[in-house]
Amino acid sequence: MSQIVDKVHHVELVVGNAKQAAYYYRKAFGFGQVAYRGPETGDRERVSYVLRQGDIWLVLTTPLHHLDPLNIWLTLHGDGVRDIALEVADVDAAFSHAVAGGAVPKAEPATRKDDMGEVRTAAIATYGEVIHTFVQRMDYKGFLPGFRPSEVPGAGAGLTFIDHIVGNVEDRQMDRWVDWYDRTLGLDRFVSYDDKDISTEFTALRSTVVASADRVVKFPLNEPAAGRRKSQIQEYIDANVTAGVQHIALASRDIIATIATLRANGVEFLAVPRGYYDNLWQRVGEVQEDPGRLSELGILVDRDDKGYLLQLFTRPVQDRPTLFIEIIQRRGSNSFGKGNFKALFETIEQEQAHRGNL
Ligand code: FE2
Repeated sequence: MSQIVDKVHHVELVVGNAKQAAYYYRKAFGFGQVAYRGPETGDRERVSYVLRQGDIWLVLTTPLHHLDPLNIWLTLHGDGVRDIALEVADVDAAFSHAVAGGAVPKAEPATRKDDMGEVRTAAIATYGEVIHTFVQRMDYKGFLPGFRPSEVPGAGAGLTFIDHIVGNVEDRQMDRWVDWYDRTLGLDRFVSYDDKDISTEFTALRSTVVASADRVVKFPLNEPAAGRRKSQIQEYIDANVTAGVQHIALASRDIIATIATLRANGVEFLAVPRGYYDNLWQRVGEVQEDPGRLSELGILVDRDDKGYLLQLFTRPVQDRPTLFIEIIQRRGSNSFGKGNFKALFETIEQEQAHRGNL
């Protein structure tokens, strides 16, 4: 079988108040609203707002009634990612390959249609209580059947596509999930970081990235590693109750402009440790961007043998220390900022300590 998954079609977050969450993602991150589903469109059970920027599609969903089982999901995990939907050329082939590889089915292949055309979908369970919906678009004109166009223009922030989506899994479960992604979705082991790469005096984690053959779909998987104190991955698992999505990395074509916009919009970023820029330029060499602007905006830089990347991480985007957003711009580098992990751990541990979780 050739490549099974083409790209991330959309990411669905379950939230306690989709109306307000949609406002936050529009005003803070510059998304525009493009579609809506709810009582007014014939769905009396749940409401969903579809937001878009570049080729990034987010769906924010809230259950309307207390008996909806989605409330149990919310009680357990709080606001977070429930579905990383994947666009595929052939839903039936992708679904049967994944199930043969050991995936638990969540929805059998089915055709959904309305007056804008039809799509074929199916779904499987992945780590924690996250699912992958497969979407075969079949020239469908809108977002997905059941949604109605509902335009609220966004101011934009120069975000273009989803670069990678990271899962945090339980202690010693990372290798199992790396194998699982290979068997079910044909994503192979792209790069690994062990606890020597990603540790401080106190805490550690291990990370392996699985990716599609063309590297368009990239899923790093983290697990906690033993340290003198609680790993940030264990803090996440405790807060989320199960494994789940730790962060979504959104690509920018001009990270200086993007971060300036997001900061002006009130997005909170992890503080860059004092002294980070003191020996940075020695470590990463020449960059095209103005070093003064990068340090002013607190943007992180890392280099590998292929080039460099610029990145910055938000603080958690809800009250539990679970999901956050990364902004990334690649200049040749295909890695994930290993050189920054250590530098940032200091800040992450400070925040963990403030929450009483270190
Ligand atoms: Fe990342």
